[in-house]
Amino acid sequence: MRESEGLEVDVTDIENISPDELSGKLTVSDALLIGSPTINQNTLPPVYNLFALLNPVRDRGKSAGAFGSFGWSGEAAGIINSNLRSLKLKVMDEPAQFKFSPGGDKESALIEFGRKFAGHILENCKYKNPGE
Ligand SMILES: Cc1cc2nc3c(=O)[nH]c(=O)nc-3n(C[C@H](O)[C@H](O)[C@H](O)COP(=O)(O)O)c2cc1C
Repeated sequence: MRESEGLEVDVTDIENISPDELSGKLTVSDALLIGSPTINQNTLPPVYNLFALLNPVRDRGKSAGAFGSFGWSGEAAGIINSNLRSLKLKVMDEPAQFKFSPGGDKESALIEFGRKFAGHILENCKYKNPGE
């Protein structure tokens, strides 16, 4: 994503941030990519806390997506995308999901996913701001 001119990427550890600080970051961001492992066929509490800070009026139409690791069933990314969609964000349909650790040859697929998500953001910005 950082290869794309015009995009500034901020990586945030959402488990270790105050609600106020996270809310501030969400307010100024044009896009949101959430990563989570699947635990007990679900995503995790910090991700649900983040959903509670999204505002469908303020954040409507922002680009969004999900990635994650899983062991067998892998529900987390789908749950994230469906919550983001309900909150009216513009979700990139295909999440990136990898079994256990995303190393080795999975790394190049993840880099490709980042490029694809950057394209999704830029395309969505063009749609929201025609003529820019
Ligand atoms: C307590 C526990 C519950 C899990 N439940 C699921 C599950 O329901 N479905 C699944 O696909 N993987 C499940 N996993 C596997 C994790 O998604 C997998 O190990 C993942 O790579 C962990 O990521 P992490 O190393 O970032 O914690 C579970 C793992 C643990 C430890």
